[in-house]
Amino acid sequence: MCGIVGYIGKKKASDILIDGLKKLEYRGYDSAGIAVLDNDQDILVYKQPGKVVNLEESVDEKVEGKTIGIAHTRWATHGEPTVENAHPHKSNNQEIVLVHNGIIENYKFLKDELIDHGFTFLGQTDTEVLVNYIQYIQDKHQLNIDDAVKKALQNVNGAYALAIIDKKEPNKMVVTRKGSPLAIGLTETNDEFYVASDAIPIIEHTQSLVYLNDNEVVVLERGQKMKITDLYGVEKSYKVKTLDLNLDKVSKGDYEHYMLKEIFEQPSTIKNTLFSHLNLENSNIHFENLDELKEKLVKASRIIIVSCGTSWHAGIVGEYIIEELARIPVEVEYASEFRYRNPIITKDDIVMAISQSGETADTLAALRYSKAQGATTFSICNVFNSSMARECDFTAYTYAGAEIGVASTKAFTAQVAVVSLLAIQLGLERNEITQERANSLVEEIKTLPSVVNHIFNTDEHIKSVAKNYTQTTSFLFLGRGINFPIALEGALKLKEISYIHAEGYPAAEMKHGPIAMIEESLPTVIIATNNEYYDKLVSNAQEVKARKGPIIAVVNEDDSEMIHTADFVFKVPRVSDMLQPIVAVIPLQLFSYHVAVLKGCNVDQPRNLAKSVTVE
Ligand code: F6R
Repeated sequence: MCGIVGYIGKKKASDILIDGLKKLEYRGYDSAGIAVLDNDQDILVYKQPGKVVNLEESVDEKVEGKTIGIAHTRWATHGEPTVENAHPHKSNNQEIVLVHNGIIENYKFLKDELIDHGFTFLGQTDTEVLVNYIQYIQDKHQLNIDDAVKKALQNVNGAYALAIIDKKEPNKMVVTRKGSPLAIGLTETNDEFYVASDAIPIIEHTQSLVYLNDNEVVVLERGQKMKITDLYGVEKSYKVKTLDLNLDKVSKGDYEHYMLKEIFEQPSTIKNTLFSHLNLENSNIHFENLDELKEKLVKASRIIIVSCGTSWHAGIVGEYIIEELARIPVEVEYASEFRYRNPIITKDDIVMAISQSGETADTLAALRYSKAQGATTFSICNVFNSSMARECDFTAYTYAGAEIGVASTKAFTAQVAVVSLLAIQLGLERNEITQERANSLVEEIKTLPSVVNHIFNTDEHIKSVAKNYTQTTSFLFLGRGINFPIALEGALKLKEISYIHAEGYPAAEMKHGPIAMIEESLPTVIIATNNEYYDKLVSNAQEVKARKGPIIAVVNEDDSEMIHTADFVFKVPRVSDMLQPIVAVIPLQLFSYHVAVLKGCNVDQPRNLAKSVTVE
């Protein structure tokens, strides 16, 4: 959701900035821009609608010798993706330039105040208001740039990550955050600093990172130790983290798209995740640093799972598995609804966030709200040291590696893997399942990487089925029990990357409404791998068939009935019901991918979407 890059040092800033933007493009791709500066010269700004390549082509030789700059890739909130609305934005006096990720909520109020003082605006963004408000405060109180930023932000509501340069102080960059993520890369000599919305653009330059906390303002000056204060100038200490992130893993490799690579990575990402929480010698489940949480969970009266999108689907899988194995009541909430509906939370509740990015604004806010009400907070995150991981009482990581494709795939299966291990451990601790059942589930879980690998043998078949559906305008996805969230996930994957309307339903709900839609042009995807309820799913398929609806079914390899009813089947190995989500989702991920590619859609960067939704 918008990406920010900044650099101050000795190297050519524009190269570092554009390269960084390319790595952050998954956060938004409506427009891109950079601003660079050198002593006593005007700020140079380049910006273009669309992708970073458009920006790269527009940059000329004037950027040579410029060693300080800021950059932005945009996911539009206020105003269309035009050049005027693209970042960086300059102040009216042309002296301050700024990039912003987030939303300034009181921008209309500030804008009116600025218009009264004679300020003019080129576009519609809240960011242009902010840069001018900083100029206004600077002029009014005769402040240097860092003090002007601090004073201005005391009157600003909303979320932001900002990088700011002032032409009058060309050796300085000011960065700050509230609600939106920001990291700073340090070098030993302090002669250069890297700034970015996440670690990926920084790690090829330095592995030493500082993750900013809300309301911290940082002044970066060449040759000076980084200084952090709060908005009122009180100095803050900081911890430097050393990251061990491999850049090779953040490239597409030989795959045509990140999404395809990430789908095919799942045998290893599931394995990494499982074996990070399993003792290899004795297959005991062990979540590092979570002993205290385990005690709380064992006694918990309720677990509330908060999340969004695909992670919310993993939450529903979690509900089924935890209730089944550990017999703890679980509620799964859309974080965006939960945070605003005055929910009843007690100190005996465990509020569990599931999030790939660890930065999703609604999920983070739901956690903060729960913490303030006295609940224990726990996050399952993929991004190391993300805001959720830092702010929660406890965190268990998924080890899926960087997920760049906007549509989540490998993070989902890793989330389900963690929740499954947790449920087994809690079931044992609460004496709800026998050691024998736990052992047999763990042994079966350990086979999941090879089971998933085996499903990839059907990829060509899935692709050939996909060819029949490039002109289809609507799909229904049905699943029962633990496969109901997989119906939701299958529908979400298809609509977000191929723009085909799709709805997921519990199969039995079909007759309460959606059945009215069934006709020859509306295919239904039925997930029919359940050992329990299989006969009921066959009946649901018959109901569709009786109304001439085409059927694609996900079935077990040894299926005997559904294969005769469905027009096409995607076969997967038979596993216990508890483990089916990870298996059943794979053909649906591949199906969505192939339909989208055959339709000519940009699967890694679907229209209007962005990864890491850091605005509400
Ligand atoms: C869909 C997708 C989104 C995310 C959602 C939550 O493919 O990726 O629905 O799952 O935005 O994001 P995280 O998991 O980062 O909190």
